[in-house]
Amino acid sequence: MDHLFSKKDLGRIGLGTWQMGMKGWGKDYDDSSVLEAFIYGVSNGLNFVDTAEIYGNGRSEALIGKALEYLDRRRIYIATKVAGYNATPRRVKRSLYGSLKRLGVEYIDLYQVHWEPSIYTNMEYLFRELENMAGEGFIQHIGVSNFSLDGLKKASSYLKDFRIESNQLKFNLIERPGNDIIQYMYENGIKLIAWSPLAQGFLTGKYGVCRKPEGFIRKLNVLFSEKNFKRYDPLIKKLKEISLKENATVTQIVLSYESKLGVLPIPGFKNMNQVKEILGALKPELSEDHMMEITKILEELGTIKAREKMFPGIIPNFLVRTISLFI
Ligand SMILES: NC(=O)c1ccc[n+]([C@@H]2O[C@H](COP(=O)([O-])OP(=O)(O)OC[C@H]3O[C@@H](n4cnc5c(N)ncnc54)[C@H](OP(=O)(O)O)[C@@H]3O)[C@@H](O)[C@H]2O)c1
Repeated sequence: MDHLFSKKDLGRIGLGTWQMGMKGWGKDYDDSSVLEAFIYGVSNGLNFVDTAEIYGNGRSEALIGKALEYLDRRRIYIATKVAGYNATPRRVKRSLYGSLKRLGVEYIDLYQVHWEPSIYTNMEYLFRELENMAGEGFIQHIGVSNFSLDGLKKASSYLKDFRIESNQLKFNLIERPGNDIIQYMYENGIKLIAWSPLAQGFLTGKYGVCRKPEGFIRKLNVLFSEKNFKRYDPLIKKLKEISLKENATVTQIVLSYESKLGVLPIPGFKNMNQVKEILGALKPELSEDHMMEITKILEELGTIKAREKMFPGIIPNFLVRTISLFI
């Protein structure tokens, strides 16, 4: 079986689509303009697309399905996720069929378990069932998301004919998972798909103490605090300085830096301008000097530890399901 992330035509930056199907990200945007932006981005190189059955309760997948009517499906890598509370040996098949139907596709390129299941789930049987569905051709590759080092090791040990291709974790310039899991993934060829690569907009340079983002999702994000804006002000200033020299934008410098670290960033977007800006990050590789300048300032300022696990394992599925209704 070939490895997904060694494919030559797979873009080094992808597109996240949580924003596409979900309200709560501030000023509303309509389906047709977001679809137009999506189609433009995918056709021009952002051909790794991340979605999930829970984004807008299936709405994100359905919108992608609509976009696929105008695109060559064979040239797009579709990654979707089964919600952690549906990731049980008994329920996972129904979730997969739901995603296939909404997306209007015959197979999923990367099927990910959205978060590490609770301790009441038989992980071994779950991963065997995933492997069965892959054997039937509905899934090309198996991945996970928000898995701890321990969970990742266990999941890998349950697979026989397939392997864990990737673990999707919160990763950006200032929010990082532990070095131990990064090291393990690197040594075992498990790709780190970086969610929140723009720290939900914090790293685009447009927000600050006097200008905070709208919408409940980022109101709940403790990163957007006065303390953090002050702490990372020197970083934003440095990014602005570098962006002028590189003839790029702050967002492009951030994505370029992250992709050069070897992770796959999947920025979320809301309109055509943002997609065009993200596309611009594919072109110039950030110079080594500028990479080093950014690394140096991050060492001085320090980073924030991002938890790998989304929910503590002792919380039962029905409770997680209720909490997730708000995601
Ligand atoms: N596996 C998981 O558990 C998990 C969790 C979260 C997300 N994800 C995935 O990761 C993707 C991205 O992560 P994220 O949603 O946390 O956010 P993000 O990519 O860090 O930030 C997205 C936000 O940044 C702003 N933005 C985007 N492009 C921009 C540009 N060119 N210039 C200026 N601002 C720009 C937009 O908000 P404004 O315009 O309003 O500022 C956008 O909503 C999601 O779509 C989803 O696919 C996965």
